Amino acid sequence: MRRRLRILAAAAALAAGSAWGQAGEGRALFIDPGKGNCIACHQVPAGAGPAVRADVGPRLDAARLKGWDRARLRDLLRDPTRANPDTVMPPYGRHRLLDDREIERLIDFLHALP
Ligand code: HEC
Repeated sequence: MRRRLRILAAAAALAAGSAWGQAGEGRALFIDPGKGNCIACHQVPAGAGPAVRADVGPRLDAARLKGWDRARLRDLLRDPTRANPDTVMPPYGRHRLLDDREIERLIDFLHALP
């Protein structure tokens, strides 16, 4: 049941993400509880993702991510503990929660945020 809900949620996220082009895949990964699950901690601007109350991490938008080029985002997503050993953000690359290609799609999404 849970699994079926997860598949439905992922399918809905994919459908809604189709307007995002390449970043749509990253958007789906951002939302998917079995993948990035980034919305457990981060809010994004209205329309970019589901409205959530999460505030463990900072709200992510274009203004916030100004100056975050691909290399800096890649380093963070692979292993945020390198910048902050006490962070609660998971080391997606180091723990193989996401592969290199998925991390690139998430960067596409982050750079497409309004
Ligand atoms: C368990 C909570 C949690 C999850 C899940 C999480 N993050 Fe984070 N994130 C944080 C916290 C807390 C910070 C603040 C920096 C720190 O802790 O060092 C952060 C920082 C960031 C930043 C830097 C923003 C800034 O201005 O400092 C980005 C970008 C980011 N996260 C993206 C993501 C993405 C993309 C995902 C999903 C793949 C994700 N996060 C999942 C908690 C989380």
